[in-house]
Amino acid sequence: MTEVPQPCVLLVFGATGDLARRKLMPALFRLHVRGLLPKGFAVLGASRRPLSHDQFRALMREACIQFSPTPPSDEQWGSFAERLYYETGHFTDQTLFQRLNMSLREIDHRHETQGNRVFYLATLPSNYPLLVRQFRGAEMVNKIDDRPFTRLIVEKPFGHDLDSAIALNDEIATVFREDQVYRIDHYLGKETVQNILVFRFANAIFEPLWNRIHIDHVQITAAETLGIEGRGSYYEETGVLRDMVQNHLLQIVSLVAMEPPLSFDADAIRDKRAEVFRALRRFTGPEDIAAATVRGQYGPSVDGSLKAYRAEPGVDPQSPVPTYMALRVFVDNWRWQGVPFYIRTGKHLRRSTSVVVIQFRQIPFCLFGQDQVRSHIEPNRLVLRIQPHEGISLGFSIKAPGNETYVDHTRMRFTYSNYYEGEMPLAYERLLTDVMRGYAALFARRDSVEEAWRFVTPILDAWTQDPAHDFPNYAADSDGPEAANALLEADGRSWHPLDPPAPSS
Ligand code: BG6
Repeated sequence: MTEVPQPCVLLVFGATGDLARRKLMPALFRLHVRGLLPKGFAVLGASRRPLSHDQFRALMREACIQFSPTPPSDEQWGSFAERLYYETGHFTDQTLFQRLNMSLREIDHRHETQGNRVFYLATLPSNYPLLVRQFRGAEMVNKIDDRPFTRLIVEKPFGHDLDSAIALNDEIATVFREDQVYRIDHYLGKETVQNILVFRFANAIFEPLWNRIHIDHVQITAAETLGIEGRGSYYEETGVLRDMVQNHLLQIVSLVAMEPPLSFDADAIRDKRAEVFRALRRFTGPEDIAAATVRGQYGPSVDGSLKAYRAEPGVDPQSPVPTYMALRVFVDNWRWQGVPFYIRTGKHLRRSTSVVVIQFRQIPFCLFGQDQVRSHIEPNRLVLRIQPHEGISLGFSIKAPGNETYVDHTRMRFTYSNYYEGEMPLAYERLLTDVMRGYAALFARRDSVEEAWRFVTPILDAWTQDPAHDFPNYAADSDGPEAANALLEADGRSWHPLDPPAPSS
């Protein structure tokens, strides 16, 4: 891995869109302010909207004011804006790509970007194949070597099922080598998600316990209070399985479950993650799927302040699209045989919280009498809190002070904010600099993406063939559908509470 981000031009397709304004530009701006961009660096935005360079800069400034945790001062913005350029055009228009080539050469000259390019597909996914063909037509990609380099960043969704993912990957492969392609899954850029690897492989005491002998089950939760935020037509095409599970949550499964890699090299890590995707136990048919999955769709909140999914703009009033999902997954290998991974995620839940919970096995034998424990001795739980209140806690039993022996349960907690000053870096900051360094460990590789689709496509098919009859089945601002509790109760288990622990506990 090259340590320092290399000079380059970031060519953003869909530069005036939601993603560019909410995520990309604030991240680039913060990198600029912190001096973490290469000296030779510029952004060239492209989209249909007719704008001059200055109008584009003004639009991006507004975006940073709105979405950056620290809004720009005049001085900071002035120096950043000098790095921004814009080109208007339709992606169907070949001349746009000729013009982009010319602009890129000029920018190379002005900013000493050495001919290195990063193309960012931040546009509608339906444009991806067309854009790739245009790159080919305009000879914009150096596939032979990395002098100068051309890299491609692709935003999710990478296809909408297995076949479309393969077709998209094939199309991309006609122009780019796989090691030039960076499929962004912003969950992998979150500090606390990256910490899963460090926690596992920079400590000697946990890894020996990290297996079926000691772990009873794993829970991964990504609960959101947010609804679909005006993205009705996007969400109707997507649903919770494609939006959150196929990518973000299965990537977290892969980090929790992977074997130790040989090194921290991108492919050493990605090889081990890919093995997890290959080991996900396949479903045997619709009954198996029905037994292992729960789907939900939110109705209005009890107090009426939040409307039902079916009443959102752009949503079919009879929509069968799920906004919640819970799932039991097994990783069929030596380490994890018989250990369920429970996943749940949903929109408009009562709390926003993302956690990984490792629940260890119950003690084999209890020395203590009925009057010395509450109802049972709680098993140890290791909680990796991804957001908010980022940190780690370990629950364990102690003797409550007093003349009698009474077993109480407590926890040790580490919270990032108590330990580190300043804000956590945005996921996109880390991911963008990794692309400029040529370090792909935190990106999804083709084989993993296709395996993840291979795993989820049968669920999508089963749901299409047998639409839910009970939607909406949970109220907005609740804990989700009752059936999600039943999924774990049937296995003699229960979900970790959605509420974060009180800050002082
Ligand atoms: C996106 C999904 O990928 O992730 C959104 O499209 C979701 O629907 C978002 O809200 C969640 O990301 P975060 O970083 O807010 O947890």
